Amino acid sequence: MDFELNETQQQIRNMTLEFATQEVRPKADEIDKEGRFPKELVQRMGELGLLGMMVPEEWGGPGFDTISYAIAMENISWGCASTGVIMSVNNSLYCDPVLKTANDAQKKIWLEPFATGRKLGCFGLTEPMSGSDAQHMATRAEKKGDRYILRGQKNFITNGPNADAIVVFAATDPSAGAKGTTCFVVPKDAKGYILESKDKKLGIKGSHSCTITFDECEIPAEYRLGEDGQGFKIAMATLDGGRIGIAAQALGIARAAYEAAREWSLERKAFGVPISNHQAIQFKLADMATEIDAARLLTLRAAFLKDKGVRHSRESAMAKLYASEVAMRVTTQAVQVFGGYGYITEYPVERHFRDAKICEIYEGTSEIQRIVIAANVLKSGPFGALGY
Ligand code: CAA
Repeated sequence: MDFELNETQQQIRNMTLEFATQEVRPKADEIDKEGRFPKELVQRMGELGLLGMMVPEEWGGPGFDTISYAIAMENISWGCASTGVIMSVNNSLYCDPVLKTANDAQKKIWLEPFATGRKLGCFGLTEPMSGSDAQHMATRAEKKGDRYILRGQKNFITNGPNADAIVVFAATDPSAGAKGTTCFVVPKDAKGYILESKDKKLGIKGSHSCTITFDECEIPAEYRLGEDGQGFKIAMATLDGGRIGIAAQALGIARAAYEAAREWSLERKAFGVPISNHQAIQFKLADMATEIDAARLLTLRAAFLKDKGVRHSRESAMAKLYASEVAMRVTTQAVQVFGGYGYITEYPVERHFRDAKICEIYEGTSEIQRIVIAANVLKSGPFGALGY
């Protein structure tokens, strides 16, 4: 078994760490405090090929593998979790399903400008009355000749306020459940595409989200991705990839908090010595380091499977579940290591703590990840796709 990164993966790691250190991290506090969408960083990510990382060169991307993507996501999120999720949504939830389901004519319009960073995408599955139960959506798409009319609402749409187009799911045959769901791509200037006010959030404040209403939104049939009735499977397969991105985001947040706690423990003195001399603090750092490493291994394994083209629902769910819960534990402990200083906004750990929470919620809550894992364990046996 080879745990080493190849040359390209190492280059991506070095490049994204440098970018995150020099350009992203110095702005993270201000982005959070102002709740500002980091437009200039999104533009830079486009220039660096970070917005459509797995898109092949012929469609405007650099054609990197998912392992490189996970490494990049960890580093960007280490710098700023808001910037990380903007990147993740465009890569995993927008470009990935378009790449996999669109024909060449559609890819020219809906992939190339998004993979190069000239445009930004978002993903609409969640609705006010159906989050986890994604099959039972209320949004409808009615076929009328060579057009579809969309009616309904999607909410918590990350990148929604800034996106140029949405990959969106609607019921074309509500009586058919999962098999009656269809996927579309809709540009923001389509008539009846209405952006509602932005969500006010606990964390990732620079990543803007909102509700999008489809009010008699009429689109040409060419905006359909895949066939009628394939939408649910497209959504689920997309989330298998998306969960790798969120696992990597959680890792980046956890690593930032752990590093801050480690440095603080070496400087801060109590009872006449640096607090790192106290075993109570050492044990916390040991647990943080171990859990972060375990979460990273799970994340890279899921990425490895995606690159092999193997179904990786279980491994992605494990990675996302574990990494996001590790991020919560590590950021909580980091605040504890900082004591009172951890609770005030002068230091970054309270931001990491707030940013971590969403990783347990979006792209499937921890409860949904457990459902996916349990279903797989019961159906396919105790071991995963690699036989261990
Ligand atoms: N890949 C391909 N096909 C899949 C699949 C996958 N990963 N998962 C399920 N399917 C298929 C099944 O095989 C089945 O097909 P057949 O009938 O042909 O066998 C069909 O889809 C239905 O599957 P299930 O019966 O398992 O579906 P379910 O209704 O029980 O749902 C669920 C399963 C896991 C609960 C699913 O609904 C789910 O993942 N819910 C959570 C949704 C979610 O993650 N939402 C997050 C929104 S995105 C977001 O947060 C974006 C953001 O802004 C950052």
